[in-house]
Amino acid sequence: MSKRVAILISGGGSNMVALANSMVGDHPARPVLVISNDPNAGGLAKARDLGIETAVVDHREYPNDRNAFEEVLHATLEAYTPDIVCLAGFMRILTEGFTAKYEGRMLNIHPSLLPKYKGLHTHARALEAGDLEHGCSVHEVTAALDDGPVLGQARIAVEKGDTPERLAARLLPLEHALYPAVLRRYATMDRTPVLIS
Ligand code: GAR
Repeated sequence: MSKRVAILISGGGSNMVALANSMVGDHPARPVLVISNDPNAGGLAKARDLGIETAVVDHREYPNDRNAFEEVLHATLEAYTPDIVCLAGFMRILTEGFTAKYEGRMLNIHPSLLPKYKGLHTHARALEAGDLEHGCSVHEVTAALDDGPVLGQARIAVEKGDTPERLAARLLPLEHALYPAVLRRYATMDRTPVLIS
């Protein structure tokens, strides 16, 4: 039986689309739900166009109450009994209590070569540091932010003239290759790291 994958987004959802498009044919998983914390996320319409059910759990409806937000997020997810949860540009920090519920079955993509540059503004930070290479990582989600075991990385050379925006744009196609490659392995319990350069 196919593994059931839920994907959490906050924005344009290009990684979600790459994941969804990869889960066809003999792929061991299928997308069952896309959730956004932002009702205006562009990825919601893309998910619907792909025939995937969508839901919104708007964090702004739970001001200063992360637990209440996560309770609804959890209930919304569990209605679809996901085997795997993929964070794909999901820009909310999750509590230890929430991440514990999905231990060993939640992935995230982060736009840096972890353990470098956890958190925000990764492209600017790589440029400021004078790094010669940059990249993205897919890792298992644990309680600490952007800190779980790395299951794959893709690398690009930093070029003269790169700005944070240009670097982000050059990296995005590698994210779209890396995340599906890791998910495909992960769905069969294969944790061999995927390396793309
Ligand atoms: C991606 O670049 C992803 O790596 C990043 O947000 C972007 C989402 O784009 N994620 C993070 O920064 C997580 N901390 P998308 O909505 O087009 O997939």
